[in-house]
Amino acid sequence: MKVYVPMDSAAKALGAEDVVAALRAAAPEAEIVRTGSRGMIWLEPLVEVELDGVRLGFGPAEPSDVPGILDGSSAKALGPVEDLDWMKRQTRLTFARVGVIDPLSLSDYQAHGGLTGLRRALAMTGQEIVDEVKASGLRGRGGAGFPTGIKWQTVHDADAPQKYIVCNADEGDSATFADRMLMEGDPFTLIEGMAIAGIGVGATKGYVYLRSEYPDAIAVLSRAVEIARAEGLLGGDVLCSGRAFDMEVRKGAGAYVCGEETSLLNSLEGKRGVVRSKPPLPALEGFLGRPTVVNNVISLATVPVIFEKGAQFYADFGLGRSRGTVTLQIAGNVAQGGLFETAFGISLGEVVNDLGGGTASGRPVKAVQVGGPLGAYMPVSKFDTPLGYEEFDTAGGLIGHAGLTVFDDTTDMLGMARFAMEFCAVESCGKCTPCRIGAVRGVETIDRIAQGDADALPLLTDLCETMKDGSLCALGGFTPFPVMSALTHFPDDFARLKEAAE
Ligand SMILES: Cc1cc2nc3c(=O)[nH]c(=O)nc-3n(C[C@H](O)[C@H](O)[C@H](O)COP(=O)(O)O)c2cc1C
Ligand code: SF4
Repeated sequence: MKVYVPMDSAAKALGAEDVVAALRAAAPEAEIVRTGSRGMIWLEPLVEVELDGVRLGFGPAEPSDVPGILDGSSAKALGPVEDLDWMKRQTRLTFARVGVIDPLSLSDYQAHGGLTGLRRALAMTGQEIVDEVKASGLRGRGGAGFPTGIKWQTVHDADAPQKYIVCNADEGDSATFADRMLMEGDPFTLIEGMAIAGIGVGATKGYVYLRSEYPDAIAVLSRAVEIARAEGLLGGDVLCSGRAFDMEVRKGAGAYVCGEETSLLNSLEGKRGVVRSKPPLPALEGFLGRPTVVNNVISLATVPVIFEKGAQFYADFGLGRSRGTVTLQIAGNVAQGGLFETAFGISLGEVVNDLGGGTASGRPVKAVQVGGPLGAYMPVSKFDTPLGYEEFDTAGGLIGHAGLTVFDDTTDMLGMARFAMEFCAVESCGKCTPCRIGAVRGVETIDRIAQGDADALPLLTDLCETMKDGSLCALGGFTPFPVMSALTHFPDDFARLKEAAE
């Protein structure tokens, strides 16, 4: 008997290890395979029993469910996992293997298409590799949506004795966990993507800057790097191609701003995580002053499937200039939270109401913050906005790393606006005045509004304009998004408190 249980940290937090212990005690002869998560967090720990090649799901499993899981009589039986609505409706390209394979089995990885992309890339020139990424339309999944191929072209064209690939695995945005799930559930995909990037732009060394709060991801990815090196996938002669690429995992410093690429590079160099002025671009003067590709985990982990299936295959999915798939992370006050990979173009309302099943509290949805702590609060009236970079921009929002936090109608939006300013004040690197001082003044100004000071309202708008226009990076520059969206879409929350004070 073969049983699959996730070792993903979300599943572990929900009791996966106790379920594994109960399974081992009840069925010592069963082969237990540890996997990543399928992304249906409300069903974790999700146990899968393989029967005639079909994986039958049971969840959320508790140790007391084990006898019923083993004889198939459990009330938590879900049927074939692949037939569940959540799974069937997805287009899993980047996450195709997550939850399916043993994350640390290179043979399992290859049996599911792994390394096909790298083998194809190794037969190409650097320029052909860069052209393939450009043709796929891939844009950075870390937040800004910058075209990945153009960034790679700049590094490819730079003349330097050493170039680097740096993977941004700091994943600091609220409601985001796609990077973690990928690194814990299918780490070889990231390694393969980084190797393709290195060979494409002529970088022989890579670093993954991985947030310190992710000990499981650090352990799994570090082990995968060791295995990859031992198997010749990394090192001086990648898959016997005569081309070199190696990489290391580095633990992050634990600051939100260290996810900003130049601050990250400073931190990686052992310096304080302070934002650098641009220019120079990291693509020209990045890690240790050398040309550096800085890409998000999902951007890099999407590269293998582009090379496996072809740029056109990938580009055929999506909407407008947002090509391929988006890995939505649905969280907050939501009935069904988790990771859902789908082509760009799905509407916000479909994600929240249809996939997420509305709020966990059962109350009406009030707002959804999309794009982490710097993202706008989208009201229900914007629910027809399709997930696409330009479409969200037009609607006054941003997609960012595609994390969605759902709030119900009890949420006080003035409080959320205050929180955005407070977050910026706490996390500011301190380099520029509009952010360092502005965020502190922002908290004070919102407190004045809460006390009923009407004069403070135009002051807040003015302050937001200054922060937007004058900040050096998006921490100070984008904090006005949550603040102003709260004020614009939920003016009653600002007035109600004012009235109460009168
Ligand atoms: C304050 C701040 C925090 C950021 N945090 C992250 C992060 O945790 N992960 C990430 O990939 N990008 C983050 N970014 C975006 C990076 O600066 C950069 O755009 C990204 O790593 C580039 O990779 P991509 O082109 O693949 O998206 C952050 C930006 C800012 C301003
Ligand atoms: S906006 Fe804030 S975080 Fe960014 S450089 Fe200025 S002070 Fe630092």
